[in-house]
Amino acid sequence: MTLPLTEHILYTQDQLHIEACSIESIAAKTTTPFYCYSKAQLLSNIHHCQAAFKPHGMDIHYAMKANSNLSILRLIADQGLGVDLVSSGELLRAQAAGIPEKSMIFSGVGKTTVELTLAINAGVGQFNVESVEELELLATLATQHARSINAALRVNPDVAVDTHKNITTGRKGNKFGITIEQALSLYQCYADHPWIKLSGLAMHIGSQIQSVTPYRQAIEKLMALATKLEEAGFSINSLDLGGGFGVDYGDGANLDLVSVAQEIARSTANFRGRIIVEPGRSLVANAGVLVSRISYIKEAQPNPFLILDAAMNDLMRAALYQASHPIVPTNTDNDSAIRHYDIVGPICESTDTFARSYPLSKSLKAGELVAFLCTGAYGSVMSSTYNSRSILPELLVSGTETQIIRKEITQAQLIEYEL
Ligand code: LLP
Repeated sequence: MTLPLTEHILYTQDQLHIEACSIESIAAKTTTPFYCYSKAQLLSNIHHCQAAFKPHGMDIHYAMKANSNLSILRLIADQGLGVDLVSSGELLRAQAAGIPEKSMIFSGVGKTTVELTLAINAGVGQFNVESVEELELLATLATQHARSINAALRVNPDVAVDTHKNITTGRKGNKFGITIEQALSLYQCYADHPWIKLSGLAMHIGSQIQSVTPYRQAIEKLMALATKLEEAGFSINSLDLGGGFGVDYGDGANLDLVSVAQEIARSTANFRGRIIVEPGRSLVANAGVLVSRISYIKEAQPNPFLILDAAMNDLMRAALYQASHPIVPTNTDNDSAIRHYDIVGPICESTDTFARSYPLSKSLKAGELVAFLCTGAYGSVMSSTYNSRSILPELLVSGTETQIIRKEITQAQLIEYEL
């Protein structure tokens, strides 16, 4: 495994640093576990993404579900990106971060009446509609509120992708989108609707994808559909190709954004409208770490257990997708021979296991810190309070400055909501 360290999250003199701050110095000022992000790394990821897609004139809408902390959203918005959102909660956050409503795309299979009404009245720029039933409801609400709606149909292109089965979304049997065959009749049905303007197609085929092939295959189908619709007299002004671009979690595999952009440009060369992409993970994953303290090293067979103070509720990805995040000591000063550990959290579930037989220094001790690398995406946002555990604080480092960007939601505060 090659550690996915970055220009801004790296070892300096045996100490893991985020920019100019050592993790140990950050941890000395807060409770563990905590999430910590590098502002410079975030900006560098955004700029890299813009450099890949902008020369082709493509629009970037950050899939904010990957990390929706307000400070992160503000940073992203300041760089001129729009957002892809999937709930009224995300809409509220995007508004609070100052993102213009016209730069918002509302995706999701189960938008409720309340959510659609809120988004319609807010003036959300584009609705990606995922079913006949949703389009009916959207049309009814748009009529009631006398608001013009810009909508795209999300189609399910039914292509195979090389990722974990739980994060594919563009296969037959997945709940997302309509079939390609349904699109023409929906366009015909809403052709003269006074408030609904269907003018785009959308797709999102999955997440943590490592190859451009499924994009090429899916875009081919989308392009064929766009041509068919245009031949039938409809103008297709935008193609939203979703996100899913894979990052390196330590196995060396990732999807280079420049090659994705080139592939998209090639496959859509005959399309004259706007192309949108919705990266989430690739903008934030490697900019964040989860820092945790070792509570115990419990001797056992076949491996000792490294029992951490972080658990599956703080970082769900291992329990949900058998995902592995590189786990590293924050101080490699006394690094000696290697020992293999089973790395677990304190929750009363056997799935509260981050890694099995994981090689780390033999000299590790209880009380020392470890960091989970590449946890800026789908880390904090997916946490829960299971076992009545708190919601972790989040910190943002910029140079020598460390700022709390979310306070811990404490165990006592959680109880306050119960009557
Ligand atoms: N657009 C839509 C409509 C999406 O549903 C998603 C992610 C994205 C864009 C962004 O995909 P990304 O670029 O981040 O791969 N919790 C899982 C990932 C679920 C992704 C859901 N949809 C994980 O931790 O791997």
